[in-house]
Amino acid sequence: MATLADLTSDHTDLDAEQVAYLHDLIGSWGLLADLSFADLFLYGRSADSSEPTLILLGHVRPTTGTTLYRADLVGQVFEQRRRSLIADCFDRSETVAGTANEEVDGGLDILAVPVRRQGETVAVLARERASSQSRPSSEQERTYLKVFERFATMLQRGQFPYRDEARLRHRTPRVGDGLLLVDEEGRIEFASPNAVSVMHRLGMHRGIIGARFVDTGLGASILRNAFARRTTVIDEMERGNEVAIVSHCFPLFDREHPTGAIVLVRDVTELRRRDRQLVSKDTTIREVHHRVKNNLQTISSLLRLQGRRLRSDEARAALFESIRRIGAISVVHETLAQSADDDVAFVDIVRPLVRVVEESVSSPLRPVAFDVEGDAGILPAQVTTTLAVVLTELLQNAVDHAFPVAPDGGEPDDGATVAIRLNRRSDGLTLSVVDNGVGPPDDFRLEDATGLGLTIVKTFVEGELGGSITLSPVVRGRGTVAEVQVPATRLVGVRDEAQEPLA
Ligand SMILES: Nc1ncnc2c1ncn2[C@@H]1O[C@H](COP(=O)(O)OP(=O)(O)OP(=O)(O)O)[C@@H](O)[C@H]1O
Ligand SMILES: [Mg+2]
Repeated sequence: MATLADLTSDHTDLDAEQVAYLHDLIGSWGLLADLSFADLFLYGRSADSSEPTLILLGHVRPTTGTTLYRADLVGQVFEQRRRSLIADCFDRSETVAGTANEEVDGGLDILAVPVRRQGETVAVLARERASSQSRPSSEQERTYLKVFERFATMLQRGQFPYRDEARLRHRTPRVGDGLLLVDEEGRIEFASPNAVSVMHRLGMHRGIIGARFVDTGLGASILRNAFARRTTVIDEMERGNEVAIVSHCFPLFDREHPTGAIVLVRDVTELRRRDRQLVSKDTTIREVHHRVKNNLQTISSLLRLQGRRLRSDEARAALFESIRRIGAISVVHETLAQSADDDVAFVDIVRPLVRVVEESVSSPLRPVAFDVEGDAGILPAQVTTTLAVVLTELLQNAVDHAFPVAPDGGEPDDGATVAIRLNRRSDGLTLSVVDNGVGPPDDFRLEDATGLGLTIVKTFVEGELGGSITLSPVVRGRGTVAEVQVPATRLVGVRDEAQEPLA
């Protein structure tokens, strides 16, 4: 679908500031559609002066009424005679009202309003509704239509859309949320049924009409600021945990003179309550990670105690290896306990993992330098835990097997290094551990490896991460490269997919 920017640059000679102005209009014109119970269209005119054409730049349907147009018409180009009223409005640069009969039974009422900026007509806003629906049937309709007319006048004087408009993060309020019309003295002239409900929540049960806006509890400054800054002002009031209301104030002007305002009010009490719950859930999750880490440390201590009582060296070694593996998982929980959410930058846990392995390098005669390159980005907690165990095994293997002490007890290799390389791409993650040691044994085949370390690695990488692993000699030079590939599909958390703005 073509954007406003595409359409204006393809069909009109509007400059960047004029297009930005139309963007602002489209950012808040849902309000105008709601107030007029009708479809609104935005037309631009082509630059070609010999045979100008009209281009439909935008369309908004009302949430207060039914649309006449189900199809998406945006981007259509019309000859001027097919939309003569719009062309007329462009030519005269003033509001034109009329009827058209072609498209709807009983005819259409059309109101074309020039969108003027700094004296120049940059577009035309057209309101279209069935003639049969043009007669207002209630006080509410009459009020809304009159407010629409005030906005239309501001539109052609270049006072709407407002400059430097304050914007809500997620959703502009619609008229259905609750509308208060305030007069030039700051008294409430009209309140829609939903606005009345909001007033009730604020403890105002009668005498809403005629009350001063400052007495509603919605904040005294919002009106004042809106008039002073001549633009929309958004405010949120919260009374304890019981009630939270967002108000969105649109000041109305007759030339320089403020004539009143509409304030859209929305009850967000329930939303804020959910926000608070989410926040406290986050702290709960962190607390859980903290406890898991503590429990893992307790398990390690128990195993250590038991290990000390064992006489068989083999059994002792096995227990101490388990302690090391548990240590790797504990590192992840410690990091998660400190992080604000459930995802962590993997690189942050590589250092602590290296430390776990370093502790097992008993002989100071065999120093090994560890080096981390690249970045793995943010990973979900579960993937991080799995990869942490995998990485620890690979590091441990490098330390255990790559740099054997020479049988004659001679000088150890100096310059033993182990590099951890991380590479995150759009198609996945590569994690490699490269050492400059003796390389894998000649007859080594990963498929046949029966050691516990590589069995854990294979199970985790292939089973849990849906990835692959290779272990081979360094191509040029000496040493071993262990390379783990994880596909991108496994690197996103459940949260990433389900994330949606709440308000
Ligand atoms: N970086 C390396 N350099 C040289 N040989 C390696 C390297 N990594 C693995 N190997 C070889 O692969 C074998 C299998 O490794 P694996 O981790 O499965 O078992 P292990 O280390 O012998 O025992 P465990 O990990 O259960 O304590 C090792 O015994 C070693 O021969
Ligand atoms: Mg091993």
